[in-house]
Amino acid sequence: MELSNIHLVKADITRMEVDAIVNAANRILLGGGGVDGAIHRAAGKELLEECKTLEGCETGLAKITKGYKLPASYVIHTVGPVWRGGNNNEDELLKGCYTTSLQLAVEHGCQSIAFPNISTGVYRFPKRRAAYQAIEAVMQFFNNSKSPIEVYFVCFDEENYRIYHELLN
Ligand code: APR
Repeated sequence: MELSNIHLVKADITRMEVDAIVNAANRILLGGGGVDGAIHRAAGKELLEECKTLEGCETGLAKITKGYKLPASYVIHTVGPVWRGGNNNEDELLKGCYTTSLQLAVEHGCQSIAFPNISTGVYRFPKRRAAYQAIEAVMQFFNNSKSPIEVYFVCFDEENYRIYHELLN
């Protein structure tokens, strides 16, 4: 267990000065509302142009683009599961988002990565359960990989921030 590489912040992810920020996207990868919309607005039109070349992404997986006008060099677009009651592999798919994003970041030489609270908005994943899966996935990644990477959990709403604060402490 390596907690020293995990940081909790309450912030707008588009302002994060890290090597990669993660986008909670959908399978088409052409933008949307929530954090996806905010990232596309802040990165500028070129992000959408690159996303058009990606041909979408499966739930639980991730694809990487440049960050364009963002302070971050890269955007990692991942597709969280839509909550359907909890017996439709939602936990594993959500963990997959965190794990594949971390793998992509490390493959691209990133030393820091910022995650939003994937699936906890429009996709309605219960916040506490999502936070637990997110932290589990990151800790398992640290246990299985020697790659040093700083992980920022970026909470936008107070409720998520409180939940992460409690679970991480
Ligand atoms: N910075 C950080 N977090 C943010 C920001 C922001 N600027 N804006 C919203 N969030 C947070 C929300 O508070 C929520 O906890 O992102 C979390 C995820 O919410 P959504 O953006 O709704 O993402 P998700 O639940 O994964 O649903 C994905 O929404 O619009 C879309 O295109 C996207 O269809 C996809 C769906």
